Amino acid sequence: MIVLGIETSCDETSVAILSDGKILSNVVSSQIDIHKKFGGVVPEIAARHHLSNLPIVFKNAIDIANISLDQIDLISVTYGPGLIGALLVGISFAKGLSLRLGKPLIGVNHIVGHVFANYITYPHLKPPYIVLMVSGGHTEILLVREDDKIEVLGKTVDDAAGEAFDKVARILGLGYPGGPEIDKLSKNGDENKFNFPRPMMDSKNYNFSFSGLKTAVLYTVQKFDKDNIPKEDIAASFQKAVVDILLKKTFKAAKNSNVNTIVLAGGVAANSYLRKKAQELSEKQNIKVLIPPLEFCTDNAAMIAMAGYKLYKKCLSSDLTLEAVPNLKI
Ligand code: KG4
Ligand code: ZN
Repeated sequence: MIVLGIETSCDETSVAILSDGKILSNVVSSQIDIHKKFGGVVPEIAARHHLSNLPIVFKNAIDIANISLDQIDLISVTYGPGLIGALLVGISFAKGLSLRLGKPLIGVNHIVGHVFANYITYPHLKPPYIVLMVSGGHTEILLVREDDKIEVLGKTVDDAAGEAFDKVARILGLGYPGGPEIDKLSKNGDENKFNFPRPMMDSKNYNFSFSGLKTAVLYTVQKFDKDNIPKEDIAASFQKAVVDILLKKTFKAAKNSNVNTIVLAGGVAANSYLRKKAQELSEKQNIKVLIPPLEFCTDNAAMIAMAGYKLYKKCLSSDLTLEAVPNLKI
């Protein structure tokens, strides 16, 4: 079965082609350099670039996969959550293709896409498993009971983890996106130099809160002279606080749910300290941890094609009335 995936929810234009769950092509065109100068994604600019990039990315993906259009069996597209204008570009393209080829269409939740990115690298992964879903807009602990039965055990009550990385990076005068910058800088810093707060780390539920931590970093930075801010130590100590909170709750969720596998998903799962600490805890607590390769942590269409493939097998599909849902929930 050949599935074509389309992802345009934020600032990555991506098209991928999978054959029976294996990647034939996964083309990602990032707009990061365009949005960098604004310090974040500008929705209208993102939509305009998707519009001009998508046909080119699509043609590249078809050429690399070396298939003809009539070999496509299913078109899978992100329909939310994300930026409305950006989502509409991908959905309109997917509908046009579905009509032209007479092939079925399936709308995929972007967050489910991030989770299912793990099936690309770990084809033998089977529910139940716990997911630590950490991206720019989302921080959630999920329990995947079946591919089409995903329960939200907890989520952030304010900022997402990626958002906290991006905001702290801005406080430290680093570039956008902030996560990779903090990750890089932390390698030369002392993670125990500043004892930042770990809000809600020991609360009974699985919810998170990162806005107080971000404010604590701001107050610390303000104590120093502009030219003398120990950026490396602050970055490393902040990163440690975030990772401590994320992993403590995730491992607790796995234990309490009697589930022996944890998977990481989303852009923040690219963080090298999080990956290292998750592996260490995995060995200590004897709980399996699966982490997707970097290219499948950040936004890509292969994960959307994979989710479409899995959910279509569960008899789910969409029709031409499919709409963009910017605040789509699981
Ligand atoms: O999943 P993603 O590519 O897009 C969304 O759906 O949001 O996640 C983007 C987020 C950004 O906040 C970015 O700063 C963060 O993931 N990120 C990282 C790293 N790489 C990307 N955060 C921490 N460490 C990283 N290495
Ligand atoms: Zn994403």
